[in-house]
Parts: sequence; C-alpha cells; structure tokens
Amino acid sequence: MFPDHGPWSPRVDAILHGGDYNPEQWLHEPKVLEEDLRLMRLAGCNAFSVNIFGWAACEPAEGRFDFGWLDRVIEGLHGIGAKIILATPSASKPAWLDAAHPSARRLRRDGRRLDHGGRHNHCPSDPWFRAKTRDVARRLAERYGRHPALVCWHVNNELNGGECHCPHCYEGFRAWLKARYGGLEALNTAWWNRFWSHDYTDWAQVEPRDPENLAQELDWRRYLTHANLEQFRHEAEPLRALSPGIPVTTNLMGPFFGGLDYWKLAEACDIASWDSYPAWARGDDAATAMRAAFCHDATRSLKRGKPWLLMESTPSNVNWADVCKLKEPGQHRSASLQALARGSESVLYFQWRKGQGGYEQHHGAVVDHEGSERTRVFKEVAALGAELPRLKPVLGSGVLAQAALFWDWENRWALELAKGMRNHDRGPELEAEALAYYRALWRRGIAVDLVGLGSSLAGYKLLLAPWLYMVTPAFAQELRAFVRGGGVLVTGVLAGCVDASGLCHRGGRPGLLRDVFGIWAEELDTLDAGVDPGLQALAGAPGLKGAYRVGAYAEVLHLEGAQALARFRRGWMKGKPALTGHRFGQGSAYYLATRPEAPCLEAFLGALAKGLALPQALPTAGRSLPEGVEASLRGKGPERFLFLINHLSRPRSLGLGQVQGLDLLSGKAVKARLSLAPYGAAVLHWREKA
Ligand code: GLA
Ligand code: ZN
Repeated sequence: MFPDHGPWSPRVDAILHGGDYNPEQWLHEPKVLEEDLRLMRLAGCNAFSVNIFGWAACEPAEGRFDFGWLDRVIEGLHGIGAKIILATPSASKPAWLDAAHPSARRLRRDGRRLDHGGRHNHCPSDPWFRAKTRDVARRLAERYGRHPALVCWHVNNELNGGECHCPHCYEGFRAWLKARYGGLEALNTAWWNRFWSHDYTDWAQVEPRDPENLAQELDWRRYLTHANLEQFRHEAEPLRALSPGIPVTTNLMGPFFGGLDYWKLAEACDIASWDSYPAWARGDDAATAMRAAFCHDATRSLKRGKPWLLMESTPSNVNWADVCKLKEPGQHRSASLQALARGSESVLYFQWRKGQGGYEQHHGAVVDHEGSERTRVFKEVAALGAELPRLKPVLGSGVLAQAALFWDWENRWALELAKGMRNHDRGPELEAEALAYYRALWRRGIAVDLVGLGSSLAGYKLLLAPWLYMVTPAFAQELRAFVRGGGVLVTGVLAGCVDASGLCHRGGRPGLLRDVFGIWAEELDTLDAGVDPGLQALAGAPGLKGAYRVGAYAEVLHLEGAQALARFRRGWMKGKPALTGHRFGQGSAYYLATRPEAPCLEAFLGALAKGLALPQALPTAGRSLPEGVEASLRGKGPERFLFLINHLSRPRSLGLGQVQGLDLLSGKAVKARLSLAPYGAAVLHWREKA
C-alpha cells in the first residue's frame, strides 16, 4: 500500500508552479512588479522563490536594513494568491560585506583570498559570517515567518562545498577529526600515514594541503560537508524556531554533483529539492530523459519515496552549456510532467523574468526581454499552468520502489582519489556505469530508489551496486541481511575493496562480502579502449544466451561456492568466470568481472527483475517500453496515478493491457491502447480495489 504523505507544507493545496523571482533588479521601475503580477496570473503561476540573491537590497549598508521592497513584493504576490518560498540571501555577498569582513571570503589553497564578486564563495566556517547570516535569517523569520503566503524556506542556493583553507576551516577540521578519531595515533593509522613518513606528531601539523594523502583528502571532503551543514544550521535554526511547521530546504544540484554528501545534507532538510537542467534537444532525448529520471529519483530517494520539489528548471534554454539549445515546442510540458511523474510536487523555474544585464541575461525565463505574454515560451508555460490544477489529486502521493541502486558520495570520493586502474576523472565513469544499470529498469517502468552507505535496504528486493568500492562494516551487515533475507544483489569490479578511510581490506576482494558472493577476486586488469575479451553466457545465466561484447575491465575471479554464469572468450583470461552467481541464505549475489555492452546488461538485469516480479508502472510482462516512452506510478492509499510520457518528437503508441483509468490531463477514460503525440503525455488515475 502506498502511504498518503499529505500536504508537504501546511499551506499548500496545489502543485506549485512558478519559480525564482528576482524583482530587486527593477526596484527603480515599480511598474515592472505590477506588470509581473498581471503576467503571473496569466501564466497560471502560484508560487515564487524570492530574495535568493537579495542581500544588497535587504541590507544596503552594514546594519541598515530595508525590507520595504520585499514587503511590497510579498504583498503583491500574496495579493494574486501566490505562495512564497523565501530565501535567506547568503549565496551572494554584498560588496560592503566582502570589503569589511574579508574572513567571509574563501581562502584558496595557495593562501590567496577570493576577490569580491561572483557568488557561492563564502567560507563555511567563518564565525562572523555564521553569526551574521543567522541574524539575517532571524530578521526574515521575525518579519515573514507567520505570513500566510509563506510555504517554504530556501536556505542559501546550491551550496557548492568549495574548499576554504582559512584558519577557521582548519581549526574546524581538526576539531572534527578529534571527534572522529580521538587521538593522533588513531588518525595516523586510519590515514596510513607511516607511508612516505607522513606521520603527524602534533595536531598543528594536520593541514589538508596534500592531495596525495588520500585518506586525509577523503576526510577533508567529509569535513566540508560537515562545515556546510553547520553553516546551514545557523540559518535554519531561527527559521524553524520562529515559523514552526514551515519546511526548510536548500536546493541541491542532483546526484552527479560531487562536492557535498547529499545524503547528509538531506537529513538536515525537511523536504528535498533540486534544480534540473537536462540537455534537451541535443540529439538523444531518450537518453536525456533517462538521465533526468535518474536525477529526479535520486532527489526523491534522499527522503525515501516522499514527495520533493523541483525548485528550478528552465522554461527554454540555459546560458551555461557548451551549446545553449532551446527546448522544442511541447518539450517543456513533457519535461515538467516528468518531474511530477517521479514524485515532485512542483514545477518551478529559473527564472521568471530575464534580467537585462548580468551574467544570466541570456538565460531562459518565462518573461523575455520583450516583456509580454506573446512569446512561445510564455504561452507554453501558461498552457502548462492551466493544466496543472487537473493534477491536484496527485498531491501527497509517493513512489514506491522495490529496486535500489547504490549511489554514495563517500564511495565516489574514495574512487576519485584512488590512483590506478584508469587515471582520469572518474566522476563521468561512475555516472555512465550507474546509468547503464539504471537503464534496464527505467526502460521497463520499474521504480528505483538510490541508496547510500547509510541507507536501510529493508523493503527492497533488488540492489544494483556498480562500483561498490567502499564497504563499511555496518553496510556489509546491511548487505548480508539483505541477501540472506531473499534480496538479489548485483555488483561489479572492485567491489568491497576499501574501508571508510579508503584503506584496502585485507583477506581478498570482495572483502567483507567474500562469502556473500562466494568468490575471490584476485586481480583487476584495465583494458584499452576497443579491447574486448568477450563474454560467453553459460547455462543458468539469467536472460543471457550466446556471446556478448564487453570491455573496460577484466577481473580474475576464483569460485568459492559461486557458480560461473559466463566466461571470458579471449585473451589470457579465456575460460575464467566473467559473471558469477551465488545463493546466500534466501537470496542471490551476482558479480560481474567486466563491463558488458548495453544489450547484455539489460538482458541480464531485465531477467532478474522479471524473476523477482518487480512491479512495472505499466505492466508489460517484463518487456521494455517503446523507445523514448517513460512510465512512472505514484500512489496514495488506494489511488494510483500512472504517468506515461513520450519524450520523442514522433508519435508513440502503447498497449495498456488490463490498465485503464481516467486521463487527468485530457479528462477522457482510457483503456486498451494509448496514442501519445510528439512530447505527449497522459496521467491515468484509478483506485485499486481493496
Ligand atoms: C542554478 C542557480 C540559479 C541559476 C541557474 C541557471 O540552478 O541556482 O541561480 O544560476 O542555475 O541555470
Ligand atoms: Zn574558511
């Protein structure tokens, strides 16, 4: 049964539609606000995020506050019935602040202070900045915390975890290390500091300035998350104290952003939110849609299955890509519905109105420089705004996944820092591998949550874990219990290699999981591009038959109870296991000793999903949906909402089998077959019988 999450904020009873509004750019022209209010109504917009970069307008000189403009903006918005997402303005510092308080500016590794300018560049540990931003947050909460239009607090903006090497950050790092390790001896051991004679004998020597001390660098990244969280708390505390019940969030940048541990950040938020900018219309919209779905799922997973907010998206183009493409006509709707399909309760934009100048003057916006409702983009936004109220019944419903995919920042950092294998930026490699696994489930409309090293695996039946490089004792326990209890676990090369410090486990890979997989992984070869040792499926390999192409890696596996399900076909590893399976308790653990081509991975994972009878949003007896079509199911109590979206510019047609319901978008009953226009979508609603 799906839980009914109820409203995510006490004052919200609609899907939020609107976005970042920065009217402080037009304070010299009050007519613009008036005109905006007219246009907002026309566009069916009901929510705006204000004050995100408003610090200089709120506090033009140190200690001199002027909230008059913000009062007018908030009253104006409230007057048209719009809800307010109110930001603390700490993401960009006024010039007076940077001049008078240089300690708020980050210090680079080479000792140079960042200049004033840009944004997202404060020191996360500076006591003055923490106290100051806390004070600003308190003033905002005192003034607006009980305003009837306020629905959410938006702390800072896209915290980026950039390094600061100032004395405060170093002191903070040392304090954090003392809490984690107790003494220097334990720290030296955990960091393997005897290597190259790097032992520390005094805490004052501990400085995160040596990227070749891998464990130190790993802890430094952890600390940066900690410091950002502390800064976040300084702002969130007065908000929570003065406006109880109003949720606090900070807008994240999705799973592929590697700078902060989002599992930890999300714990501090009341609701997860993120800014989504997929590269639509760049030649492969099916792949773009899948990547966007992965990111939406990641955001939802931060608060397992609960509704979340799409805090930003562009109604047309971005201004920062290598090629800043427009969305094609119709694509704005399909992209927005996709976020809702995967659990969002909002469609919000960056930005409402295009600034005439500044860094983002050419970034897409609902209102163009031209300024009227006559643009294509405005019309598409308004059409969506007219449609969204039909989806109101979806509010409070969630997505229930029985499959999970391993995605963890500490694991990522350990892999990025490690030298060896293929020495390049491993971020894109991790991303590609995760998407390769995800694809098999997304194509079948099977819901997937992301899980990290601290997640519970209860309730999942399948766990895909490519690059399960770091395994802590606690997560090893979780994995054992998962498989023993009937779960199916799939992993690949280098699984279980290191501990929480990035130190290699002794006793043979996959380390703490050796008996779970029933193998010993002895050595790993990294293959040159195009080298294909080939994979030959053996009897009993789920979904696989015959020969497949593989590449990138080849690992030497020894069977210790596992069964070889495929063998390498060529090279010196010919005949050795390329895929193994092992029964452990009630479940099974599979190990891939190489990276298979897409059809192989999809056939294999598809067969596992089918074997486990994982629910498909649109049941197709385990088969894939037509290319470019996405299916996602939300539910609350007995109610079901099946989103079917065509991400391609050509029509698609789908057999619906037994599924039938009322399409909330068209208002028509649908059964048997559904035709989807280019970028078309349907949201079928029905009630399950008890
Ligand atoms: C981010 C920021 C916004 C804006 C957009 C542009 O998401 O939060 O302020 O810069 O990018 O795409
Ligand atoms: Zn600092």
